[in-house]
Amino acid sequence: MTAILPEMPIERQTPLDPPTAYHELREDLPIVRMRFPSGQEGWLVTRFDEGSQVFSDPRMSSTLRSRHDIPGEEGVEPAVGLVSFGTTFVEMDAPDHTAYRRLLAGKFSPKAVGLRLQPFIDRIVTEQLDAMAAGPRPVDFVQAMSMPIPCLVICELLGVPARDRHDFHSATDVMMDTSKSKAQRDAGSSWLVDYVTGLVALKRRDPHAEGLLAELIRSSGEEGSIVTDQDLVSVGVLLLFAGHDTTMAMLGLSTLTLLTHPDQRARFVSDPAMVGPAVEELLRYLTIVQFGLSRRATEDLELGGQHITAGELVVVSMAAANRDPRAFANPDVPDLDRKMARHLAFGYGVHQCLGQNVARAELRTVLPRVFEQFPNLRLAVPQDEVPMDVHGTNYGVKKLMVTW
Ligand code: HEM
Repeated sequence: MTAILPEMPIERQTPLDPPTAYHELREDLPIVRMRFPSGQEGWLVTRFDEGSQVFSDPRMSSTLRSRHDIPGEEGVEPAVGLVSFGTTFVEMDAPDHTAYRRLLAGKFSPKAVGLRLQPFIDRIVTEQLDAMAAGPRPVDFVQAMSMPIPCLVICELLGVPARDRHDFHSATDVMMDTSKSKAQRDAGSSWLVDYVTGLVALKRRDPHAEGLLAELIRSSGEEGSIVTDQDLVSVGVLLLFAGHDTTMAMLGLSTLTLLTHPDQRARFVSDPAMVGPAVEELLRYLTIVQFGLSRRATEDLELGGQHITAGELVVVSMAAANRDPRAFANPDVPDLDRKMARHLAFGYGVHQCLGQNVARAELRTVLPRVFEQFPNLRLAVPQDEVPMDVHGTNYGVKKLMVTW
């Protein structure tokens, strides 16, 4: 008889905390067999150390579809959330993955982001804040700030026309919405692929084209460079969707957190040196990649005393792991003064977020500037009426009505 497995906890009881069921799982069954929303079975990991171990173990493959690892295996889709393109480097293992990271790492270093993007971020944040100040109130903070800033930044970075931002945002939105049918989500991802394919063709024809895609085209021929249009499209698609929806979710949720935690807000505005550590704590506390990340064991292995069989799916809930009391004292309380070595909000190991310095630059610029320019900023509706984006691969607010 087949045992009936528990379903992965999805529903939240309070808006800023992961489902309470994770508390018990983390204490009693930290590596537990589950049925995931995709209908597949596998293991759910809810502790920090074991989660980190999964992300840093080369026997845990990101190549969920069958490629070269397990003979006779059909491969599986991600267990939760993400649509699989199957061809972007987030779904590759070494050495393919390593080649992409080597090619792109320098362009995403703190120095490169500071030089190439920070002046642009400063300018558009000023423009958006001034537009917000001049407009009607209350205003939806998502439309005024959290959506436009990451969209404009990714346009600048990649060399995507800013006028197209609503279209690629809508396609991403559908693709990341787990309440939509597979066909609808696939249509969103196909739109993105077609869009970036067109863009790459345009850049190929224009020797003066700007942005990362054009740079990659111009450097083709150099050792280790990208040569095929298919590779360029896969890089472009990955950066386009990974680069804006995530930061958008973090900007909205971080603002909501500061608006509803007056003591933390007071700390935040009291000292500019707080901004860096505060952003890390908000990343940990909010962990927007809400359903976790999938890996697949390429051989039999032991994880935290549990036997995992080759081919099995392993999902790490970073939302649960980032609230593990073994790693963080009083983890369910946002404490902007917290001293921590690291968190799992950007993942860990070789796939750790390539764009984390871009995200940090945006968060570290927008959040202090918002509370500086609008010292009386407050919610325009009761907190329990703020609509949350519960179905998105990235958790966030749908709308955040604020006034001042
Ligand atoms: C707060 C915002 C962000 C969060 C929370 C976030 C989170 C993550 C996480 C958890 C991963 C690991 C995926 C895995 O291990 O399978 C990842 C990978 C990635 N992220 Fe981000 N991300 C953010 C912003 C960005 C931005 C702004 C960009 C681009 C400009 C970006 C580009 C990427 C890319 C390309 C990867 C794949 C890296 C690889 O597989 O080597 N992300 N991100």
